Amino acid sequence: MFLWAWEVKMKTIGVLTSGGDAPGMNAAIRAVVRSGIQNGIKVMGITRGYNGLINGELFEMNRYSVSDIIQRGGTILKTARSDEFRTPEGRKKAHNVLKVFGIEGLVVIGGDGSFTGAQKLSQEFDIKTVGIPGTIDNDLNYTDYTIGFDTALNTVIESVNKIRDTSSSHERVSIVEVMGRHCGDIALFAAIAGGAEDVIIPEVNYNLDDLCKTILEGKQRGKVHNLIILAEGVGEAEYLGKEIESLTGIETRATVLGHIQRGGSPSASDRILASRLGHRAVEVLINGGSQRVVGIKDNQIIDIDITEALSLKKEFNKDLYEISKILSY
Ligand code: F6P
Repeated sequence: MFLWAWEVKMKTIGVLTSGGDAPGMNAAIRAVVRSGIQNGIKVMGITRGYNGLINGELFEMNRYSVSDIIQRGGTILKTARSDEFRTPEGRKKAHNVLKVFGIEGLVVIGGDGSFTGAQKLSQEFDIKTVGIPGTIDNDLNYTDYTIGFDTALNTVIESVNKIRDTSSSHERVSIVEVMGRHCGDIALFAAIAGGAEDVIIPEVNYNLDDLCKTILEGKQRGKVHNLIILAEGVGEAEYLGKEIESLTGIETRATVLGHIQRGGSPSASDRILASRLGHRAVEVLINGGSQRVVGIKDNQIIDIDITEALSLKKEFNKDLYEISKILSY
């Protein structure tokens, strides 16, 4: 019987995590390994991202390799940002390793930089790739959510609740700086969920005088605290705090949450998302797909072309921003 190329069963796939870690990456690894094995596929775990691939750090995984990890933060495969993989020579080395181990399909769990690596590898060599979005930043346009965002948001809210207590007691202004690089989603969602008075994000220009006016007007109306969520990259919390204090005369404190946002046990929502995406990634490879990324849109798991996904600029959720303004008054 004649078989189309994609009907020839894939025998071995690899899985790696790359870039900044995110809670739920382990749940995604678990889903890839178990879905693969269930389909009779050998699954190789690659440690330390693309660096580990170049250096041949691979091991065969079985169902038990991923036991007891669904609830764990971080990534059991470790992660890295690889400069060497950005070079054609680095990718050639990586491809040689994939060939030696007979790996026909590679699942890459990471953000846009990691997806670009996967795209290049597939374009230059005969290797199928699928990306799973794993980053707390939620900065990818083609998917409503990335793995880790929900957990990071909940970590931020836990801290914001505590800061609000002391901020109210002292009737202070509190600036809370959160992660997100070029994307304000963590800050914006946290501002709404945490009932913050204001939010400063890269997508909207802010004016210090207007901000101070809002703070003073709020105080006049009887607000006992002023909680401001600041997205990293727009400015530094400590510096902004000093400016606000000198312009309003209200005592101001700054807190930078930092890497606490990247750790911790993943939320139920992130575990479910990771499980669904990991399962779909293996299905894509089995069906002959390559240079695809999986995601979630309107609660449906989707897969789209990696080049298209990377070309889409993250859209700013203006409605959510307006809501945050209205509700914080
Ligand atoms: O994972 C994304 C992110 O958390 C960004 O928000 C942040 O700028 C960056 O990673 C920092 O990562 P690292 O300290 O690992 O370089």
